Amino acid sequence: LGDLPFAGVMDAAVHVLVFPWPRQGHINPMLHFATALVDAGVQVTFLHTEHNLRRLAQVPLPPRLRLLSIPDGLPDDHPRSFLELLESMCTTSSATYRALLLSADAPVTCVVADGTMPFAIDIAEELGIPALAFATQSACSYLALLSMPRLVELGESPFPTDDLVCGVPGMEGFLRRRDLPRGLYCAEQGDRDPWMLKLAEVTARSSKACALILNTTASMEQPALAHIASHTSDVFAVGPLHARSRLTASASLWQEDDGCMAWLDGHEDRSVVYVSLGSRAVITQEQFTEFLSGLVATGYAFLWALRPDMVQTTSSALLREAVGAVEGSKAHILEWAPQRDVLRHRAVGCFLTHAGWNSTLECALEGVPMVCWPFFSDQQINSRFVGAVWRTGLDMKGVCERGVVERTVREAMVSDKIRGVAQAMAQQLRLDVAQAGPSSSELERLVRFIRELSI
Ligand code: UDX
Repeated sequence: LGDLPFAGVMDAAVHVLVFPWPRQGHINPMLHFATALVDAGVQVTFLHTEHNLRRLAQVPLPPRLRLLSIPDGLPDDHPRSFLELLESMCTTSSATYRALLLSADAPVTCVVADGTMPFAIDIAEELGIPALAFATQSACSYLALLSMPRLVELGESPFPTDDLVCGVPGMEGFLRRRDLPRGLYCAEQGDRDPWMLKLAEVTARSSKACALILNTTASMEQPALAHIASHTSDVFAVGPLHARSRLTASASLWQEDDGCMAWLDGHEDRSVVYVSLGSRAVITQEQFTEFLSGLVATGYAFLWALRPDMVQTTSSALLREAVGAVEGSKAHILEWAPQRDVLRHRAVGCFLTHAGWNSTLECALEGVPMVCWPFFSDQQINSRFVGAVWRTGLDMKGVCERGVVERTVREAMVSDKIRGVAQAMAQQLRLDVAQAGPSSSELERLVRFIRELSI
């Protein structure tokens, strides 16, 4: 791994506040980023919401990383939809955030805020503190969101059809309307999808920050990065960040169940399908049944991370029972897996995933073939890139039928071609984060940039 030249030298004059959007898929990469800054000798404060800090199963704290929290403005038992949480944080959290930035105790010299929260960038700038935006999604999805006004103008807004779009530069010829970023329950709303409109708005704002940081690498996304660069002052591609992180514990909002590692130990190499649909996706009882039937029909053993809130209106206990009752099922079900360890295990033959960006990167680094069943946000476009550009897996096109699940999983498990391409990508990613690799060089350049801004 590429150690940064500044490693070990602590610079008290530089104090970076890292502020993630309070969701699992944002906390993880930004915590890896904060750890990389600490390794580079930078003083870092990591900002959680109070709600999440109470939920964290473990609080991983590399030495010298300070944790603080602010309220998100909602009662603990209140649902936190994207739009409501953003609104609440913008109105309620901003006052505490502002006070924190003004605090004389270890003054913050630079903010790295999640691009999802324009208010965090606006307030820092108002106070004369330089603010960089961090985008936790793929560069391809970031570019698609930046292109949303053009897409809408061309009548190419997100919609579940196979029509090709030409409004995203560099992706003409393979990107379909179904691949564009869209809301959780808004697949049919086209350019009236409020979630998509809000995300396009915050993305446009984040591109105007004094720099943009992306958890990706040029070897995967150079064309998209080049187009993004023309919209931003500077862009740093420093990923995959988890590949360089020295964090031993995870910052999981669910209790990790590592009993599955012993279960995996008892299986042959590449004989198990790992299934996880990330931290947000919710499926219906019918989708669960289709999915389960398809998995059982493959004949492979499978390890399924089924969050307690993942299947609408059904408890985890009933779901476990349903899996146990299926004849021929060789399943191990748990609520939350130690995902990075699971993907690294020799027994895992493919990953059936929602194609969230962290899961995609974690899988890519281990060279495991993917089967993608995307739900919302950047997942559709990531899934398209996996199937049609990187060719490290198969895109289920959001179709949840037992026959499709069975066919795609079988193909991903046996295809030498897909495995070969996935392993070549894994090798490349390891070179990217090695000493003098492009991502390490970008991270060094970023640390220098932050130091200059902090003077
Ligand atoms: C969503 C988006 O799809 C993602 O691209 C965006 O950047 C953040 O929001 P999410 O559903 O959380 O993400 O998925 P993903 O990005 O894959 O992140 C999930 C994280 O939780 C991964 O780091 C994964 O390792 C971890 N995880 C998931 C576990 O540790 N255990 C599990 O059982 C499931």
